[in-house]
Amino acid sequence: MLDVVFARATLPKSGTLVLLMAEEAAPGALQLAADAATGGALSRGAKIAEFTGKAGQGVQLVAPAGELGRVALQGVGKLAEFSSLKAEEAGGTAVAGLMREEQAVIGGDGLTPLLAAHVGLGAALRRYRFDRYRTNEKAEDKPKLARLTVLTDDPAEARAAWARLRGVADGVFLARDLVSEPPNVLNPAEMADRCKELEKLGLKVEVFGPKDMAKLGFGALLGVAQGSVNEPRMVVMHWHGAASGHGKGKKAAAATPASAPVAFVGKGVTFDSGGISIKPAGGMEDMKWDMAGAGAVIGLMAALAGRKARVDAIGVVGLVENMPSGSAQRPGDVVTTASGQTVEIINTDAEGRMVLADILHYCQKTYEPRLMVNLATLTGAIIVALGHEYGGMFSNNDELAGHLFESGTASGERVWRMPMGEAYDKQLKSDIADMKHVTGRPGSAITAAQFIQRFVNGKPWAHLDIAGMAWSTKDTATVPKGATAYGVRLLDHMVASHYEV
Ligand code: BES
Ligand code: MN
Ligand code: ZN
Repeated sequence: MLDVVFARATLPKSGTLVLLMAEEAAPGALQLAADAATGGALSRGAKIAEFTGKAGQGVQLVAPAGELGRVALQGVGKLAEFSSLKAEEAGGTAVAGLMREEQAVIGGDGLTPLLAAHVGLGAALRRYRFDRYRTNEKAEDKPKLARLTVLTDDPAEARAAWARLRGVADGVFLARDLVSEPPNVLNPAEMADRCKELEKLGLKVEVFGPKDMAKLGFGALLGVAQGSVNEPRMVVMHWHGAASGHGKGKKAAAATPASAPVAFVGKGVTFDSGGISIKPAGGMEDMKWDMAGAGAVIGLMAALAGRKARVDAIGVVGLVENMPSGSAQRPGDVVTTASGQTVEIINTDAEGRMVLADILHYCQKTYEPRLMVNLATLTGAIIVALGHEYGGMFSNNDELAGHLFESGTASGERVWRMPMGEAYDKQLKSDIADMKHVTGRPGSAITAAQFIQRFVNGKPWAHLDIAGMAWSTKDTATVPKGATAYGVRLLDHMVASHYEV
């Protein structure tokens, strides 16, 4: 990870300096000092370039004076609107222009210690790169930036904030790594092994194999898995960070709702070929990231442990590979889920909801959580509805939905609530079993949500359909193209703002 350090707001004598400048703000001490150090080149340059500090504006002075290599002015918009999210975006945008430097300094007048730490977070998030499988890249094509110094009046306080935020960054990187890994490497067993490694952070990690899941009656999940030679796993990760320390036993039986854990549940299809209802060849390689929901849950649990969140949290992921073969599930099959409800299989490509059916049921029954949020790259239909700007949110609980919406806005990982209801639910009627798992195309992201709702037993629950958000084909301020780790920052923010003791 990018080495982020904090120093008092004094001007560096050499190297590269990025100055964050707000719109319509009177010049502060740092800006005045930089202008003096460059013999006025800064203010002249800003004027010539018509730089006003608007977000998106930038001016660069090369070799402006003495040993200074470059001074870049970067607009951040209005000071009154400069939030921690804006600070992250500023850090990320700056880093995009600094990749060929080994180190750089960034600062701005009015950068509080907390905002300085968020600048560091944005910078680290943008610097991420998955290059494990590149063996012959030329040095001049590789990013070099290794250290960023963020200027602030109180470096000690910024360091304390960064100590927490770097835990979040580590969780984001873990999720991005998992989602980026190719499906021949990251099969369910390998993914479970990577979860097990998180015990070093203080998480308790339980791994369930096919025999364990058969005992639990996981007919839905095992039905999906049966076509693959790669065995399925379920992993349960426990973080006990609340001072009250529930969870000495497995059950929070006598717990008041507020002391019960929060639970996060993820779809982890390490490769989705569609199974017997096989997908078309074009773009099928993308289906390596059909485990992004599980990746986000794992990254989130790492983040909560890494920043020692004062919360009790459970992470449950269902890990399977969906393949066609002589042993694969057929359309027409009827399976019995862990809840006892039977399901007629219509299309073996609607596998995610089958995995969620069993693990959501298990999660609510075993842990009686205060709430459950599941994440899944569940439907192409949610991409048709919302594009790549919002995750689709479905919930049976207005308070939880409100918290998610709010945290989505604040973290930049936005969600938009979709409707649910009886009219959609009744479309799941089957002629042979308790229900079928797919309906026609109209509203099919919603009917998928109705299906999984049948396994949450009325508990406060939200389903995030992240099919449009897991992977990005373009760089954004804090997310280089590729795996986004969408959900980690959203849910970390929700936990921090509503569920920590
Ligand atoms: N993993 C896919 C959903 C998906 C599609 C994610 C495109 C990202 C991009 C899911 O398992 C799936 O195949 N869903 C089907 C459901 C259908 C068969 C009812 C879909 O959305 O087409
Ligand atoms: Mn599928
Ligand atoms: Zn899928």
